Amino acid sequence: MKEVQLLGATGSIGTQTVDIIEEFPHDFRLTAVSARDSVSKIVEIGKRHDLDTIVMAAKHRSTIEKALPETTFISLEEGGLETVARDGRDAVLVNALVGSAGLTPTLAAVESGKDVLLANKESLVVGGELIKKAMKKTEARIIPIDSEHSALAEILAGNRIEDVEKLVITASGGSLRHLGKDELAAVTPKDALKHPNWQMGAKITIDSATMMNKVFEVIEAHHLFDIPYERIEAILHKESVVHALVHFKDGNVHAHMGAADMHIPILTALQGEERKPYRSLFDLARMGTLHFDPIDHERYPLFDLGLAVAKRGGLHTVTLNAANEAAVGLFLAEKISFNEIETLIKKALDHFQNDNHLTLKKILAHDQKVRKFIEDIVKQKVKTK
Ligand SMILES: NC(=O)c1ccc[n+]([C@@H]2O[C@H](COP(=O)([O-])OP(=O)(O)OC[C@H]3O[C@@H](n4cnc5c(N)ncnc54)[C@H](OP(=O)(O)O)[C@@H]3O)[C@@H](O)[C@H]2O)c1
Repeated sequence: MKEVQLLGATGSIGTQTVDIIEEFPHDFRLTAVSARDSVSKIVEIGKRHDLDTIVMAAKHRSTIEKALPETTFISLEEGGLETVARDGRDAVLVNALVGSAGLTPTLAAVESGKDVLLANKESLVVGGELIKKAMKKTEARIIPIDSEHSALAEILAGNRIEDVEKLVITASGGSLRHLGKDELAAVTPKDALKHPNWQMGAKITIDSATMMNKVFEVIEAHHLFDIPYERIEAILHKESVVHALVHFKDGNVHAHMGAADMHIPILTALQGEERKPYRSLFDLARMGTLHFDPIDHERYPLFDLGLAVAKRGGLHTVTLNAANEAAVGLFLAEKISFNEIETLIKKALDHFQNDNHLTLKKILAHDQKVRKFIEDIVKQKVKTK
């Protein structure tokens, strides 16, 4: 029986992870969950599972303790995510948090030698170097849940990384792909949240529409598979059937395909060596034509901008991520337009200097500073209107 600790249990990936755990009750036991504010969802999960620990915002303590008196409550404010990540030596940690909030627990888990099943790509974007260093010391592994990286891991299993010419990940183009650049100014969060292929959380759906998600995935692939940026490519593929390809040096190209269903990469990460039966609805013959195109660099300017930052590395990737998180939050709150996401990220990158000596403390402090910088610009703009 594998013990599973699940951070971000109430989100899109978290909920689908609970589905998989419930589908295989003899193989997995859920021991800890976290959320920020989704009290009723956590109580529902807590009633169905014999949980040891729940982590949530401190203001929910009394409600949770009343509903689930057998379970230990630790607040986010008292470091609950990190406590869970360091606890339970034999468990695996599924990190399904959104944003840079995922870094501290990812790092804590690998530092204590625990394998992390990682959906939270932002951990690697902002702290990739620190996480890699910790992994070397403890031999903890990061097993990807992101569909493209799960696909790459499937292809690469049993192959030598030295034999790889390049990695290719696919991008759907996001919810606004049918619109030209000049039509983007007027889009609302409601328009942008309708993804054609995937049901995902709000932030990643917007990141897919701007193509920032693909930048983050290139950074994730770079860290996970130790491949230089020059040998990682992204291409447009609107059907989201092929998730990734690996070009080997001898001319062989292996593609991975599957249904656009995150339950599959979640199960792949959880199951380990032995494959478990799962209802896949994949039927290639019914899919008809598949399309592949190069990224349209003019339509998705954040892709080149983000990749240039990634290649420089250092604190600028933290600036990129924090500015993006803050700007996407403001767009979702209808405080800025869709196009202002790009403008604000550029302003932050121009304002803050790079620094290649990163520590966790520096990353977390800088993350806050950049968010405040973006929020202040928008507050100022509202005042002067
Ligand atoms: N969704 C997908 O299909 C998909 C696919 C590939 C990769 N990913 C990656 O997986 C991660 C999770 O994405 P998602 O779409 O599942 O996100 P989501 O639906 O927004 O869920 C986020 C989860 O994190 C919790 N949370 C949010 N902010 C927090 C904070 N500051 N501190 C502690 N907990 C916090 C939320 O709790 P509350 O419910 O209480 O707010 C929720 O449980 C992201 O990194 C995303 O890029 C997602």
